Amino acid sequence: MHPPRTSRLRLREMSMADLDDMAALLGDSTVMEFYPAPKNRDEAAAWIDWNMRNYAEHGFGLWIAETYDGEFIGDCGLSWQTVNGAPHLEVGFHVRVAAQGKGFATEAALACRDHARDLGVAQHLVAIIHQANRASQRVAEKLGMRRDPSLRHTSPIHEVYSLVLSSTSPTEAGRDE
Ligand SMILES: CC(C)(COP(=O)(O)OP(=O)(O)OC[C@H]1O[C@@H](n2cnc3c(N)ncnc32)[C@H](O)[C@@H]1OP(=O)(O)O)[C@@H](O)C(=O)NCCC(=O)NCCS
Repeated sequence: MHPPRTSRLRLREMSMADLDDMAALLGDSTVMEFYPAPKNRDEAAAWIDWNMRNYAEHGFGLWIAETYDGEFIGDCGLSWQTVNGAPHLEVGFHVRVAAQGKGFATEAALACRDHARDLGVAQHLVAIIHQANRASQRVAEKLGMRRDPSLRHTSPIHEVYSLVLSSTSPTEAGRDE
């Protein structure tokens, strides 16, 4: 199951057939500016494998975002991450440099936010964002998320943005990676 199509994008499960695109995306030093280092091809393959395991285990992961004519835009989706020592549902996104600044991350992430609400597996949606990553913070803000200083990731240079998905309390039981 993946989010429904948006006005310009479809989101679909990634597979090893996407390795060239994903290795180019995650190997780009600009895209990975706020990560410890760009990923090499093996690490990009591990990223795809992690998402494929998440589709099988949880029914969601990060999906490939592409235009209707098949242009690769990046990835966007949902995963379990540890915040305050407990599993929290996170929305994540990466857009290749040539496609940035066109609203694609916001468009894909809005669809993932709404999908997260429909799934009903978590009370909150979070985004764990490097304190200097203004573009990502802005995407989170446009989703309606706000920085919550009471929520902490293990990394001291990351802040946690959060939004309430549901007033009821489903079991936030997942797996962190
Ligand atoms: C974060 C990222 C996904 C945004 O992708 P995008 O498609 O360019 O984002 P959008 O076009 O939807 O823009 C969202 C907002 O961010 C703003 N923005 C984009 N780059 C910005 C920057 N460097 N500084 C400040 N604001 C920025 C845009 O202006 C827009 O806000 P606005 O509508 O108020 O003008 C993209 O920059 C990226 O892939 N970064 C590297 C990977 C990454 O950091 N991922 C997130 C990990 S937490």
